[in-house]
Amino acid sequence: FTKPVLAGTNVIVTAGGTQEAIDPVRFIGNRSSGKMGIALANVAADMGAHVTLISTVHDPISSPNIEEVHVSTAIEMQKKLEETFAMTDVLVMAAAVSDFRPVHKAEQKIKKNNDEDIYTIKLQKNPDILKEISKKKTDQFVVGFAAETENLIPYAQKKLHEKNVDMILANDVSKVGSGFNTDTNEITVIQNNKEPVTWPLMSKDDVAAKFWKFYEKNIKK
Ligand code: C5P
Repeated sequence: FTKPVLAGTNVIVTAGGTQEAIDPVRFIGNRSSGKMGIALANVAADMGAHVTLISTVHDPISSPNIEEVHVSTAIEMQKKLEETFAMTDVLVMAAAVSDFRPVHKAEQKIKKNNDEDIYTIKLQKNPDILKEISKKKTDQFVVGFAAETENLIPYAQKKLHEKNVDMILANDVSKVGSGFNTDTNEITVIQNNKEPVTWPLMSKDDVAAKFWKFYEKNIKK
């Protein structure tokens, strides 16, 4: 039994990788499992928060405190976020948003053309959802993730400033057990004017619990 220390707190968590349609049956995607976001949503709900989970995957959710909104694309995710952001206290942007989407979605399944071995898909840059929504910040606490394969701390600090967020949870995805499609994560917490703090490798459920305890103790007003 967890004490409802986050009762009255509104939380938005985004989870999973966006899927950008090429045609009715194909998409551009990524290897994000959605596990970190789902864990963050479940723990916050267990602690009594009201959670809006904006997700691309159908999630094993554990609580009536979670309102799940299913989306596929970055644009859909952005739209839902824009509808809900003003009412939230915390946004945790754990989704792996595709940086690009096909310029056109074919109405029908694209057929093989026997004369051509090369097929080109033209891509359009997606909005940086986190950066755009952070421009609308009033007193929300906004958290982003950064998956890196080198220079973890400087790259994550750059993201903290460029995206105008309050905290970045950074992980080195080249390390065994950290990042996409694993059940564990090694997180370094980056905040403005504070020394980076690295948490030991632990399960994504434990990362979520540690994050919300940190929030409750140090950030929550
Ligand atoms: O720039 P990068 O993709 O590494 O930043 C990661 C953070 O930014 C994550 O929190 C991710 O959810 C968010 N992001 C976003 N929109 C994008 C790309 C990333 O909100 N187009």
